[in-house]
Amino acid sequence: LSMNRIFSGVQPTGNLHLGNYLGAIRNWVRLQSDYECLFCVVDQHAITVWQDPATLRHAIREVTAGLLAAGLDPKKNVLFNQSTVPAHAQLAWVCNCVARMGWLNRMTQFKEKAGKNRENASVGLFAYPNLMAADILIYKATHVPVGEDQKQHLELTRDIAQKFNNDYGVDFFPLTEPLILGEATRVMSLRDGSKKMSKSDESDFSRINMTDTADTIAQKLKKAKTDPEPLPETVEGLDGRPEAANLVGIYAALADLTRAEVLARVGGQPFSAFKNELTDLAVSVLQPINTEMARLMADPGAIDAVLRDGAERANAIAQPILADIYDIVGL
Ligand code: ADP
Ligand code: NA
Repeated sequence: LSMNRIFSGVQPTGNLHLGNYLGAIRNWVRLQSDYECLFCVVDQHAITVWQDPATLRHAIREVTAGLLAAGLDPKKNVLFNQSTVPAHAQLAWVCNCVARMGWLNRMTQFKEKAGKNRENASVGLFAYPNLMAADILIYKATHVPVGEDQKQHLELTRDIAQKFNNDYGVDFFPLTEPLILGEATRVMSLRDGSKKMSKSDESDFSRINMTDTADTIAQKLKKAKTDPEPLPETVEGLDGRPEAANLVGIYAALADLTRAEVLARVGGQPFSAFKNELTDLAVSVLQPINTEMARLMADPGAIDAVLRDGAERANAIAQPILADIYDIVGL
């Protein structure tokens, strides 16, 4: 696999959760030694929905602490905050002019987030995928490790890259590929098997946060929705059982096993027993991250220093690429 450069991001809104960890962050940690990687706290995406300024500022540091605590090494990667690299927003304007209204109208995440009140959604929320395309293309990133929920946005990024290349008769932007890795690429809500686990879900019982205590994790898993049957013996037995499939997928990802291997072990168990095992496993993975996050948050100056260094390195890559883009476009 020829991967030249990896980019990915996470929003500083609310708590990092198990979906962020298993769908994205853990994979970033695994890629960091072998590839050139840029990992970004995307604060400009966060403000597509109103954020309390002090809370947002705190969340930028907390998410950065979460990434560091999960094992991202700021020496091996460029770790930075989006708004400190102005070229993202500058290229986003060009992307706004390349992308078509019809393409954006098809984005399912906008429909979900805007809900019934589309007329009252911010223009930023609608144009969000163009900023995401700019985040990626400003580094000419070839691969983007994300959860399944971002697949459609990655397709839009490729469409924008391709149209730009065609419109200007250049072979400039790569056609970026998503990297959707592991057994938990779409972790679902613990309360509703049809919704993904998300920071923006109002119910705290819908997700396991990376900062939850052992007791909270136990309570949330105890309350997690399931069906009355015991766990199946085979992966096929998970068909039509979204809650069971979700919990088994989470277990598999946390234990670094396949779903089949997990079911070979726990098939036939009632959920009550399985939930206890899953609690112990989740606590054993999350507790050390949690402890390290708290240690890092005690020294915000050190977190800010990491972000400043990352911004300098990210700007150094982005600025010459932006200059080339402006040159191509005639700006
Ligand atoms: P959220 O929807 O919780 O605000 P972000 O938009 O900040 O999450 O996404 C950060 C990363 O986490 C992305 O790569 C996204 O694909 C991944 N991710 C978010 N939610 C999930 C989930 N429920 N399952 C798997 N991956 C997820
Ligand atoms: Na690296």
